[in-house]
Amino acid sequence: MRVLVTGGAGFIGSHTTLSLLEQGHDVLVVDDLSNSSEESLRRVAELAGREPGFVKANVRDEQALDAAFADFKPEAVIHFAGWKAVGESTQIPLVYYRENVGSTITLLETMAKHDCHTIVFSSSATVYGELSEPPFVEDAPTGATNPYGRTKHMVEQILTDVAAADPQLRVGILRYFNPIGAHESGRIGEDPKGIPNNLLPFVAQVAAGRREKLMVFGDDYPTPDGTGTRDYIHVVDLAAGHLAALDYLGNNDGCHVWNLGTGKPNSVLEVVHAFEAASGVEIPYEIVARRPGDVASSYANVDRAHQELGWRAEKSVADACADTYRWQSANPNGFGEG
Ligand code: NAD
Ligand code: WQD
Repeated sequence: MRVLVTGGAGFIGSHTTLSLLEQGHDVLVVDDLSNSSEESLRRVAELAGREPGFVKANVRDEQALDAAFADFKPEAVIHFAGWKAVGESTQIPLVYYRENVGSTITLLETMAKHDCHTIVFSSSATVYGELSEPPFVEDAPTGATNPYGRTKHMVEQILTDVAAADPQLRVGILRYFNPIGAHESGRIGEDPKGIPNNLLPFVAQVAAGRREKLMVFGDDYPTPDGTGTRDYIHVVDLAAGHLAALDYLGNNDGCHVWNLGTGKPNSVLEVVHAFEAASGVEIPYEIVARRPGDVASSYANVDRAHQELGWRAEKSVADACADTYRWQSANPNGFGEG
C-alpha cells in the first residue's frame, strides 16, 4: 500500500516508517523537521534496505501537500505531525492550535480532493484527563486539562464529525499511553531538543552523564511506592499497532478508537530501577514536589485493540530501557552526531 506519513521523521513516525517499509509498503514522509532531523530517515532507509520518499514541508502548506498527494497518490495517511510539549502548549497555545488542529484540517481537505479515504491519527491518553479512573476504556468520557490535550481532543472530534458526514472515510484514532524505547539496532530513537520533559529521555541523559540527577516529581501519590504510575509502551510495539490499524481499516468502514498501551502501570521508581538494571549505571535521583498537572496514575484497558486489531504489546519496560540505553550510548547527541 502507498502510505503518506506526516511527521515521519520524528520519534514514533520514524519507527512506524521503518515497520511499513519492512512490511513492503511504499512510504512518503511529509515533515517540516521542526522537531526532527532528516538523519532519522537516512537511518530508516539503511535499516529497511530501501528509502522512504521525503518532502520537507509543513502539513499546513496546501500547495506542497497537494503536490505530494498528486505525485504519490497515497491510499492511506498516518498523521503523526504535531507539537507535543504540554508545558510549552500553555505558553504558546496558538501555535499548538495552528500546528495540530490547522494541519489536520488541511490534510483532510487534501485527502478528500485526492480520493484518499483512510487516516490513522496519533491521539493521546491525555484525552482521558481527570474525568474517570484508570484503567481507561475507549468509551470513557474525554476532555483535556491543557492546550496540547485540547488539540488532540478537538482533532478527535473533527475526525468523528467528518467521518459521520462522509461514509467513505475510514478513521483510526490511536490513543497512545507513554511511548518509550528505541529500535533494537540503536540506530533510531528519541532525540528531544533541550531539557527532556519526559521521564525516559531524562533518565537516559542522567545515565549518559549529561545531567546530574533525576528529579522525581512527588512520592506522596496514592500508588504502591508513592510515585506516579504510567503505562509505558515500547515504540516498536506502537509502530506495529499502526500497521494493525491500517489492516483493520482496509476491511471496515467508519471511525474507530483504540488505546495503545500495555495495560500495566509502572511507577517512576520502577522505571529508574529497570533502567539501572538494563544499563548497569546508577541513576541518582531526588524526590521533589509534584509537577503541576500530573495525575497519580494512567494506564490503559487494552482489550479492544487486542480483540479488534489482534494487537498486543510484546515488549517490556526492561526491553525499552535496554534499547534506550543502547541508542543513547551510541548516539550521545542524538542524530546530531554518531
Ligand atoms: P516528534 O516531535 O518526535 O514527531 C513529530 C514530527 O512532526 C516531527 O518530526 C516534527 O518535525 C513534525 N511536525 C510537527 N508539526 C508539523 C507540521 N505542522 N507539519 C509537518 N511536520 C510537522 O513526536 P512523537 O513523539 O513522534 O509524536 C508523534 C505524534 O504522536 C504527535 O502527534 C504527538 O502529539 C503524538 N503523541 C506522542 C506521545 C509521546 O509521548 N511521544 C504520546 C501521545 C501522542
Ligand atoms: C511520566 C512520569 C512524572 C519527568 C506526557 C504527556 C502526555 C503524553 C506522554 C503526548 C510522571 C514523572 C517525569 C521527570 C519525573 N504525550 N517524571 N521526573 O506526563 O505521563 O505524559 O507524555 O501526548 O500527554 O502529558 O509523561 O514522561 O513526562 O512523566 O518524576 O523528570 O514520570 O511525574 O509520573 P506524562 P512523562
